[in-house]
Parts: sequence; C-alpha cells; structure tokens
Amino acid sequence: MTMAPGLRKFALTVHVICSVGLLGAIAGFLALAIAGLTSQNDQMVRAAYLAMELIARFVILALAFASLLTGLIQSVGTPWGLFRHYWFLVKLLLTAFATIVLLVKMELIGYAAARLSAETTLFRADLRAAGIQLVIHASGGLLVLLVPAILSVYKPAGMTRYGWRKRSAIAPGLHAVVGLQAPKSPAS
Ligand code: HEM
Repeated sequence: MTMAPGLRKFALTVHVICSVGLLGAIAGFLALAIAGLTSQNDQMVRAAYLAMELIARFVILALAFASLLTGLIQSVGTPWGLFRHYWFLVKLLLTAFATIVLLVKMELIGYAAARLSAETTLFRADLRAAGIQLVIHASGGLLVLLVPAILSVYKPAGMTRYGWRKRSAIAPGLHAVVGLQAPKSPAS
C-alpha cells in the first residue's frame, strides 16, 4: 500500500514536525530539570518541577506517541516498508525505548511536582536525588533521540534479511524513486 505523492508529503511533514518537535520539547525539559536542581530560589525550583510535569505529560509523551505513529504510517505507506532497513529498525527501537523509559519515569516526575506543591518549605536533600535522576534521564533521552534524527536524513544502506526477501516484490524502478541504494548482493 503506497500513499499518493501529495498524501505522502503531508504525512512526512507531520512526522518531521512531531519528531523534531519532540527533540525540542526534551531540550526544554532538560533546561527546567537543570534549573530545578541547581537554583537556590524556591520559587524557581517549584515552578520548574511543576512545569516539567506538564511538559512531560502533555507535550513530550504526546509527541513521542505521535512520532511513533506517524513513523509507522510513513513506513507502511511508502516503499521503505516495515522492518526492511536497519536504519528503520534502529529508529523504531530507540524511539520506542525512549517512550517506555519516559512512561516509567512519569511517576518520578509526578513525585517531584506533587512533593513541591504540598510543601511550604523545600527539603532540598530529599529532592536532590530525584532532581539528579531527572537531569540524567532528560540528557540521555535527548542524546538517544538524536540518533533517529541523524539516521532519518542519512538513511544508511543495509537491509534486513526480511528486507532482502521482500525486495524482489518491489519494482526495480521504485528504488530510484524513493532514493534507495540498489543493493549489490544479498547477505548470505
Ligand atoms: C525522535 C524520533 C524520530 C525523528 C527525530 C525522526 C525524524 C525524521 C526525519 C527528519 C525524517 C525526514 C527524512 C527525509 O525526508 O529525508 C524522517 C523520515 C522517516 N521516518 Fe522518522 N523520525 C523519528 C522516529 C521515527 C520512527 C519511530 C519511525 C518508524 C516507526 C520513523 C520512520 C520514518 C520513515 C519510514 C521515514 C522516511 C519517510 C520517507 O522518506 O518517505 N521515524 N524521520
């Protein structure tokens, strides 16, 4: 099932907006995590952790799922296909991994935000461990998701075994259309 060119462009635009927007949202989250950890100003610390929960729940999580969904639509709706190329597999696994880690860490983010809104005086030692974890996870997430961004543009050659098998079903001319490198010989 291949999308019509206009629809494909539209779907690709949505995918790029969601995926690259996700990187930007994580960068904003990281800035808040650093502010929450290092600031001596109670108001700033409170504001940072409260904002982090909102950004994580309503922006980062939403964009992560949108990136996965629109990426899958790109795959099934274009000759790239599902699971045929290593760059695709790496993108899918890294984005899914980052999304799962975020889902697991939502509790920690919620804890930091709830703890702060309930307290009149901040116990910094108590929050420090959570703050350090959040900075580490935000930096890690950002670094991990740079890989899919780079792979998307370079699309390095390298087909999976499944890709080699499916390749025979694709008309040779289509490879040129989608910019695929014509493979020299199948891996035995
Ligand atoms: C944060 C994660 C991601 C980022 C930053 C990202 C970014 C991008 C960008 C910038 C492109 C455009 C490349 C170009 O047109 O030359 C692209 C294309 C594509 N992406 Fe993603 N992506 C991400 C996740 C995913 C996921 C999870 C999937 C699969 C489930 C996926 C599948 C694809 C496919 C198949 C294309 C090629 C579309 C085409 O050329 O027609 N992406 N991605």
